[in-house]
Parts: sequence; structure tokens; C-alpha cells
Amino acid sequence: MRVISSPNKIRQALIKYKLKGKTIGFVPTMGALHQGHLSLIHQAVRDNDITVISIFVNPKQFGPKEDLNKYPRPEEKDLALCEKAGVDFVFHPKSKDMYPDNFTTYVSVEGLSQVLCGKSRPGHFAGVATVVTKLFNIIQPDIAYFGQKDAQQSIIIKKMVRDLNIPLKIKVLPTIREKDGLAMSSRNSYLNIAERKKARVLSQSLNLARILIQNGARDADRIINRMKALIKKKAAKIDYVELVDPDTLQPLKKISKDYFIVLAVKIGNTRLIDNFQGRCLN
Ligand code: PAJ
Repeated sequence: MRVISSPNKIRQALIKYKLKGKTIGFVPTMGALHQGHLSLIHQAVRDNDITVISIFVNPKQFGPKEDLNKYPRPEEKDLALCEKAGVDFVFHPKSKDMYPDNFTTYVSVEGLSQVLCGKSRPGHFAGVATVVTKLFNIIQPDIAYFGQKDAQQSIIIKKMVRDLNIPLKIKVLPTIREKDGLAMSSRNSYLNIAERKKARVLSQSLNLARILIQNGARDADRIINRMKALIKKKAAKIDYVELVDPDTLQPLKKISKDYFIVLAVKIGNTRLIDNFQGRCLN
């Protein structure tokens, strides 16, 4: 496994494989790797001749009051996990490698970036779309892997790839959870013991919605209000709980064939997200 920080050097290193017709799988991450990241990495290793992981805590996607400085960076552990998983290249740039002085070009996916997490994190998705475009240009993968856990991000990246004719395939893989249902996230490490217990309420509220829908509930407000009541009981602060169309991310009044329940909740100072994509045939 090679660890490379220069965009030009990794592009040069990968060219010889591309010329031989080898396929390249790519998993962009911000490090602090857990089983959620590893499920993407394992799939990339299975699908491709060469697997590339990027580890870069992208400053452009953090707001001024967000956790850029305290975001976990367990470098050695991450590299050991990559090596064990069969990764061929780790792209690990420094901020100045990605954003040289006088960097002024941004990619913005209109509409989809302004709703849900985009409302409380203005500029976040432009930061994500910009860095992912740069990473795609540097690595030039055949397939890039994303997690359903960050559903809005995956939808935005798919739209960006389509709108900008970026020549690659996006694969979105299921959310990996802890035993008690909490979606794995690098940010779970911020939670103390009491907060960790409270955090179960995210997946519990999604399960409640699933049960209500199985039992015939179709009205969005009714389902959302029941979820909100459960979350508030655990003293968690709600950013949003919404039932939306999975393509447009616009609110639905009633459950339709394909629907998406998304939520963001603050437990103490830690903001956590989760979602459930459902299909209703009656
Ligand atoms: P990061 O939060 O490190 O996540 C990297 C990838 O792992 C994303 O595609 C995310 O959806 C996926 N992932 C995280 N937790 C998961 C889980 N529990 N189950 C399945 N997949 C999971 O998302 C980012 O980094 C950044 O925004 C990035 C795309 C790298 C751009 O900076």
C-alpha cells in the first residue's frame, strides 16, 4: 500500500494502471475509519483491480462554528485498517495540496443543497461537492463508493455527476449500525456515556415510523409528530425530522410509493443524522 499526499504524484502513479485497462475503485473519506467506511472499502476491493481511499478532513465543508479542529484524526490506526482491508493507495493530502493560495472555484448543486442539512449548515454541500469534484479529477476512478448514512450527500453527488458528465459510476451502500441501532459515525466518539444511550433515539424513532407505516399510517404530519414526541422525551434537540421525496428531497404530505424519512438531532453538542428509505406499494 502506498500513501501519497501530492495530487500530481497519485495521478501519475495511477496512470500506468489505467493504461493497462485496470479498473479503479475509490472511497473518499475524512478518516477516523469505522465499519461503515470499511464496508465501502471492502466492496471497492471486491469490485476493482485497484482500490484508492482518500483521507482528508476537508475544511471547506465545515462552518465557522463547527468541529473542524476537534474532528478525530487517528492517522496510524486508519492506515493500518486500510492496509488490512487490501487498499492499494491512500491519498492523504494536506490542506495546501488541495487548496493552494487564491483558490476561488466552487461547485454548487442548486436546490438539493439548500434543504435539510443544507439549511442548518449553509455552504456545507458546496464544500463537499467541490472537494469530491477535485478528488474525482485527481483519482479518475471507474466507480466511487458512498454511504446511505449521508443520504443527502449521496443524492447530491449523483446529481452532480449527471449534471457535469463526470465519467464514473456511483455506488451507494447501506448504513452500518452499532448493535443497538445507532448509525456508525466518526462523530459518535464525541458522545459521553449518557449521551451515547440517548443517541439510540434516532434509530428508535425511524423504527417507530416504520411500524406506524406498516400499520397503515400515511399522513406525514402524524408520523413526524410521533417521531418528534419520542425524540423530545429523550431530551434530544431536533434540527429536522422530515418525510421527503427521495429524488427531489421536497416534503411529502402523504406517504407515496417511494419515500424517505430523514432526521438530524443534537445530543449534547453533537449533531447526528440518520435516515430510512422506504417503499409503499398500497
Ligand atoms: P466521512 O464522514 O468520512 O464518510 C465517508 C463515507 O463513508 C461517506 O460516503 C459516508 O456516507 C460513508 N459512511 C459513513 N458512515 C457510514 C455508515 N455508518 N454506514 C455506511 N457508510 C457510512 O462523507 C464524508 O466523509 C465527506 O463528506 C466526504 C464525502 C469524504 C467529502 O469530504
